[in-house]
Amino acid sequence: MRRSVVAGNWKMHGSSASIEALLAAIGDSVANPGCDVIVSPPFPYLELVQRLLAGTAVSIAGQNCSEHAQGAHTGEVAADMLVDLGCEWVILGHSERRQAGESDEQVAAKAVAARGAGLKPILCVGETLDQRRAGEAQAVVTAQLRALAAQLTEGDVIAYEPVWAIGTGETATPEQAQEMHATIRAFLASIDPALAEATRVLYGGSVKADNAGALFEQVDIDGGLVGGASLKADEFGAIIAAAQD
Ligand code: PGA
Repeated sequence: MRRSVVAGNWKMHGSSASIEALLAAIGDSVANPGCDVIVSPPFPYLELVQRLLAGTAVSIAGQNCSEHAQGAHTGEVAADMLVDLGCEWVILGHSERRQAGESDEQVAAKAVAARGAGLKPILCVGETLDQRRAGEAQAVVTAQLRALAAQLTEGDVIAYEPVWAIGTGETATPEQAQEMHATIRAFLASIDPALAEATRVLYGGSVKADNAGALFEQVDIDGGLVGGASLKADEFGAIIAAAQD
């Protein structure tokens, strides 16, 4: 039985004041969650979030990390630095980073760097609307996974995030999402059946309080990677409640 995960990706939102208010407001929802809860703040707020979440069941993810361990890489953040600031996880290969030019190979290199530092990756895959319309969705996602195959281990989380559903208010139907999650699970099984059984595969893309239950009911959906709704305490709390095992 895989334990569900709800991860909030705050993207480039927030301030010290708004983050303090948000974490205070979600306090009750995360006091004793029946699933794993992760929040992913912008880098400058990691220390604040680590302090505010100390002693809670919520873990912290970086939104990205460098494939390099250290060095002359202005503006980059090393995996070790994320660990130093309390991160247990790191989101890698988010479509907003892939759209900014990150390649499959770079995502794979980042996964190696993350694991070397002791971080667990949340590996994002997903097709664009054009790719889906062209009937290429399964092939695109499978190719993204294939680039990561050598890096996958049982503690990882994969997030299927159709690009056309991110921040658009348009959600994949539970059936569309389940179909892709089954493809992902089958791909994992082709590497190692135990890996397929253990890997949590999250859905992301306009997950909200009112659609989370139907999505999380699907047999191969093990929770959600939540953007916009994770910034609203009541929405995020309801999504966590929908993910109870
Ligand atoms: P969204 O973002 O929930 O705002 O669509 C999801 C994500 O990008 O992780």
